Amino acid sequence: MTILVTGGAGFIGGNFVLDWLAKSEEAIVNLDKLTYAGNLETLSSLEGNPSHIFVQGDIGDVALVERLLAEHKPRAVVNFAAESHVDRSIHGPGDFIETNIMGTFRLLESVRGYWSALPDADKAAFRFLHVSTDEVYGSLAKDDPAFTETNTYEPNSPYSASKAASDHLVRAWHHTYGLPVLTTNCSNNYGPYHFPEKLIPLMIVNALAGKPLPVYGDGMQIRDWLYVKDHCSAIRRVLEAGRLGETYNVGGWNEKPNIDIVHTVCKLLDEMRPKADGSSYSTQITYVTDRPGHDRRYAIDARKLEKELGWKPAETFETGIRKTVEWYLANPTWVANVQSGNYREWVQKQYQAA
Ligand code: NAD
Ligand code: TYD
Repeated sequence: MTILVTGGAGFIGGNFVLDWLAKSEEAIVNLDKLTYAGNLETLSSLEGNPSHIFVQGDIGDVALVERLLAEHKPRAVVNFAAESHVDRSIHGPGDFIETNIMGTFRLLESVRGYWSALPDADKAAFRFLHVSTDEVYGSLAKDDPAFTETNTYEPNSPYSASKAASDHLVRAWHHTYGLPVLTTNCSNNYGPYHFPEKLIPLMIVNALAGKPLPVYGDGMQIRDWLYVKDHCSAIRRVLEAGRLGETYNVGGWNEKPNIDIVHTVCKLLDEMRPKADGSSYSTQITYVTDRPGHDRRYAIDARKLEKELGWKPAETFETGIRKTVEWYLANPTWVANVQSGNYREWVQKQYQAA
């Protein structure tokens, strides 16, 4: 048995592939375009593992995807591939429309063609799991209840609008064509292998480099944080037992203002890697111009997933953030290579050898 994972060299997809192959005999075909956010070094421990078949390519390349489906006959597709950074979507939305909307559309069409020709039993067992975000629901006021699966979609950034569009396509392919889909909408993830353009890894990496820690606006925007491996366990559970056509919110009830996150990171670094001059890393905090259209608050109500499928996160924010800071301290080479672009050369070599 095999599953096809897209975007499996990114932050969440990479953690998913590593966790899956550590727990299961089932092979993964990993289709990833290797944009700036895709990093094969994350998967270097899988070198020589026949259960991991990596293919560099685009989810929107219909001929390639059709070939992979025909060749490997996966029983499921898990779609992580996306452009994922809000700030980049503000500076250049085009790639977000292309991959998140057009790419998902083309992937759905390729998968529909494959699925509709399967024998009945395989057809019934097949799943297309689409990984999405809580950002599609828009922004909450301070006292609003957390997002449930029935909240209206009110995306505010080019990123969240493109993800919302992809969710709608996935939903429509179920209702119109019967494609057996599942959608997960998760809150902000953090953990190992997170590209240092996002809040938590950026703060760790900048702090250690003695650089400013840029906090947007007043730093009181709230995000709901989930350790990445808990997101991966939720996806495995939904894939295993989720009801067809349903969406499941994923979150760990960890709402925090950004400034608290930054102070927590600084405190952990003060403890684990104290500065030579004895000052706190928090002296590097710098307030900068706010992000345009910055959503004020996200919060996920994950009770449907907990009640229906018995999923619970394993980490609290305190345990997860400690593990994360420890990971970045223990993996300076990964960070340096991601920043320098050396890993791209490594990828070239890896392909020549393969
Ligand atoms: P990421 O940017 O770290 O990784 C995305 C991966 O997709 C990269 O490896 C990239 O090379 C690949 N990719 C991009 N365009 C592609 C294309 N056209 N074809 C094939 N591969 C392509 O993103 P992430 O943080 O790992 O997020 C993964 C998914 O989870 C995304 O769909 C995102 O919207 C969703 N999500 C992310 C978060 C979060 O906090 N990071 C939270 C909820 C949901
Ligand atoms: P980010 O990690 O980009 O995730 P998202 O925008 O998808 O929630 O940002 C998390 C929060 O941190 C968001 O409110 C923006 C804020 N932020 C900063 O204050 N400074 C930064 O340098 C970055 C990257 C984010």
